Amino acid sequence: MDKFRRERVLSVHHWNEGLFSFRTTRDPGLRFDSGQFIMVGLEIDGKPLMRAYSFASASWEEELEFFSIKVPDGPLTSRLQHLQVGDEILLSKKPTGTLLISDLHPGKRLYLMGTGTGLAPFLSIIKDPETYERFDTVIVAHGVRQIDDLAYREAISEDLPRHELLGDTINGHLLYYPAVTREPFVHNGRLTHLLDSGQLARDLDLPPLDPKYDRVMLCGSMAMIKDFRKLLDRRGFEASASIGQAGDYVFERAFVG
Ligand code: A2P
Repeated sequence: MDKFRRERVLSVHHWNEGLFSFRTTRDPGLRFDSGQFIMVGLEIDGKPLMRAYSFASASWEEELEFFSIKVPDGPLTSRLQHLQVGDEILLSKKPTGTLLISDLHPGKRLYLMGTGTGLAPFLSIIKDPETYERFDTVIVAHGVRQIDDLAYREAISEDLPRHELLGDTINGHLLYYPAVTREPFVHNGRLTHLLDSGQLARDLDLPPLDPKYDRVMLCGSMAMIKDFRKLLDRRGFEASASIGQAGDYVFERAFVG
């Protein structure tokens, strides 16, 4: 068990019956890059039960935050959703992942496309000042089934632009695009369709998607990644081949379980 760090739960927030977030203490020795993930879990009968979670907190924050679905019979999330303040959780020691802004070629606009809990890594990326040094405009699109799945809606659209330290950097440079598929909303449809049809760019008053200026990060289900990759490849975007090799887009499957 000494492969893991032990941290304490500081707060738990339930968004609805299917989604929750929790914050934990952070070992001062833990370093990570925005967009990375780490293994998070519980000790069950003396054994670690671990799943990958993206950091939803910024790399400069003193606490860690994670965003999770609740799978009723999921081995880990069925237990994690009952976390209480003060509980102990396990964290692996080495963060990793492909959603790195350093693996994107320079560009003007950064499209962060997340479905469901695939929003999580982008929460850390939009709080990183370096993101705004590299891109003029950052678009964070969150695709969900129902309006009440739009976790972090207020945090992104209201709190961040008014943030004490980051507000000036973010305000006017971060665009939020929530989209809902299964009930009427201001933006309806899958993100793949909204991007491919040009609707998303039109709604945000942006020029049409262009591999010369636009960079993309993807995080969602396997099917979502596959469909997005197809449409980006067709439009001449090149994927980053591996960590450390820059491309026009990077992708990661959102983790479940
Ligand atoms: P839909 O309602 O049409 O399935 P989930 O909760 O299943 O992870 O889905 C989150 C959001 O991602 C939903 O709005 C869902 O739309 C959408 N989605 C599911 N599959 C894809 C896909 N292949 N490409 C783009 N969006 C998808």
